[in-house]
Amino acid sequence: MSLEPVRPDSAPSGVKGNIVFSTPELRRYFSQNRVRWDQFYESERKTIEKVWPGGVPNVLDIGCGCGGLGLALEERFGSVIYTGVEINTDAAIAAARLNPKARVLPGDFLSMGQSEIGDSFDMVVSLSCIDWNQTFAEMLCKAWSKVRPGGTFIASFRLTTDTGRDDINESYQYINYDGHLEGEIAPYVVLNAPDLMRRLLSLGCVGRVFGFGYFGAPGKTAVTPFSQLCFAVLALKKSSANECGEVELMLPEEIATPMLEVCARNRP
Ligand SMILES: C[S@@+](CC[C@H](N)C(=O)[O-])C[C@H]1O[C@@H](n2cnc3c(N)ncnc32)[C@H](O)[C@@H]1O
Repeated sequence: MSLEPVRPDSAPSGVKGNIVFSTPELRRYFSQNRVRWDQFYESERKTIEKVWPGGVPNVLDIGCGCGGLGLALEERFGSVIYTGVEINTDAAIAAARLNPKARVLPGDFLSMGQSEIGDSFDMVVSLSCIDWNQTFAEMLCKAWSKVRPGGTFIASFRLTTDTGRDDINESYQYINYDGHLEGEIAPYVVLNAPDLMRRLLSLGCVGRVFGFGYFGAPGKTAVTPFSQLCFAVLALKKSSANECGEVELMLPEEIATPMLEVCARNRP
């Protein structure tokens, strides 16, 4: 039986704002899962490995859950200076406990001031977070603004060659890790692949681009018109000039080709 989705008070219908997730599910799941390198998806591991800068990078993780990425990066690459931002209070508290070396900032990334977060990160990562928000475009721009010139932004996206969906009424996901269609919901933003590439290039100063991903079925708790999506992780290097660098997309051909066409059209 499916119950009515719990639409949190902070996201009244018709108003675009980020949902302040309050479900204990996030802490329950992310304190046990995605805390070791081998628990991350192949697309995430391949992309991070490809662009890892070496040394001891300063990493910002937007929507960090319980800070598992910080632990996993340290396990895989050695040292890292890790800041996690997390809107769910329970998960943020667990992150500070699980990863005591991390700087954990509880709250909505979008409403945090610059002095709170800082900028000029070597790497800004957002895995399954930006597209769990009603303010996708604003989250994307703000994430990019936190990358220093020469640094890299890594994010996961759900792609289609069809028309995308950025409306919580049309595409959403129950935050329920037992697979039940009940509890709090999050937007499940699906993007048209070439449209995403256009948006990324319009961020400005986009240098080298790398992507890795594959087709798969949406998770059991997603309520979305799509039966197949491309789950892609993209890495964008920030250049100091607005020059389109090398683009390597290890994505299914029907997704990669229109994205590459957008890049070709935008080359100076
Ligand atoms: C699907 S979980 C992914 C967690 C983690 N990034 C991972 O990949 O293991 C998304 C997380 O982002 C957090 N989140 C969503 N929107 C956020 C926002 N605007 N600011 C901060 N955290 C946010 C959620 O509370 C949730 O913990």
